[in-house]
Amino acid sequence: MRVLVGITGGIAAYKSAEIVRAFSELGHDVRVIATPNALRFIGAATLEALSHNQLFSDLYSDIPDVRHIELAQWAEVVLVAPATASFLARSASGLADDLLGNVLLATTAPIAVAPAMHSEMWLNAATEANVSTLRARGITVIEPGIGRLTGEDTGVGRLPEANQLVQATLSLVTPKDLSGKSILVVAGGTREFIDPVRYIGNRSSGKQGIALVEEAVARGASVTLIAANFNYQSSQVKVIDVVDTDGLLAAMSLLYLNFDFIVMPAAVSDYRAKSFSEKKIKRSSSSYSLELTANPDVIATLSAEARKVNPEVRVVGFAAETESGSALLSLAKEKLSKKHLHLIVANDVSDGAAFDVDENSVHIISENTSKLVSGSKRLIAAEIYTVLLDSIALS
Ligand code: CTP
Repeated sequence: MRVLVGITGGIAAYKSAEIVRAFSELGHDVRVIATPNALRFIGAATLEALSHNQLFSDLYSDIPDVRHIELAQWAEVVLVAPATASFLARSASGLADDLLGNVLLATTAPIAVAPAMHSEMWLNAATEANVSTLRARGITVIEPGIGRLTGEDTGVGRLPEANQLVQATLSLVTPKDLSGKSILVVAGGTREFIDPVRYIGNRSSGKQGIALVEEAVARGASVTLIAANFNYQSSQVKVIDVVDTDGLLAAMSLLYLNFDFIVMPAAVSDYRAKSFSEKKIKRSSSSYSLELTANPDVIATLSAEARKVNPEVRVVGFAAETESGSALLSLAKEKLSKKHLHLIVANDVSDGAAFDVDENSVHIISENTSKLVSGSKRLIAAEIYTVLLDSIALS
């Protein structure tokens, strides 16, 4: 996607570096227009390094290239963040006295603006009228957050987190092909406590789960996330936090019949301690044996049941294996059938490559098909839903 980021002259402009970086990391082509006042708060070099592109600021540079029209036609989506009160007023009046103003009037791409200012300025009748005018023209005005403002004060007017702005912007240009679908994503890694301070855990970060959640929201689904040991908050997602396999099973058992898709990248511990020590286990001898007992296979049990009750449900499991090539594919296929899944997403983790990173390479496998997808976890999430929708269309 070709994303144009506009930055105007408020203190929150320093946060635009994170926004530009987030778009770039998701694989988008990013160009930045910073107003001259924005450049009082953030350096051109930072923005050029993070966008991997030349920075644009002055209306009267690159005249032979007719830059304002070239940028307006190049953009597939535009985000202005932060948007100052002055920018909102100029925009509402259709003023084109700088490069950003010209581009916004000339582009046909969807536009989101993210105001950030002190509460009094945001709540001022003039700003409210300008925001209404922009909204009436089809511009998406992202509500500012509540929290610490510049100086000592706290209130409404804070620029939302970069990731939230990126998601809101991308959702303007994402087809809503999951609209009407309810999706349960179960992600993270369970922890099985041995005593009050120690647990058996794993390396799962929850990142693939977050990508699945955000892709589903952007495509119009209603999403519930069961999160095992990672933090995720969004006003658009119902989040249920769990710790161990028992808790995960209990949360899923209450809900699993309510969804069209169940997608489970969670790393679930196969074993837990046979007994939990209420007191911290002391170091008393040179060796220590811990007796383990098997946890239930959550997805295998619930998937069979869900498919019986609702033959339309689609269940996706994941398999992280230390095998590669055909051995990886055959292990994954075995799990697909043993766990009653429609799809299994398999990858080779022998070098630890998939953990806590943004990129991965996976095979998306159904009973009859297999597809290799490499790229960001968001791209993998997108492909998983597309394969599911295609399989429904063919059935
Ligand atoms: N899973 C589950 N309950 C378990 C273990 C795994 O629901 N007790 C789910 C995972 O969330 C994942 C899929 O099953 O979607 C495959 O997980 P994996 O750990 O690869 O499967 P195991 O059956 O534990 O196989 P292995 O013997 O390779 O550990």
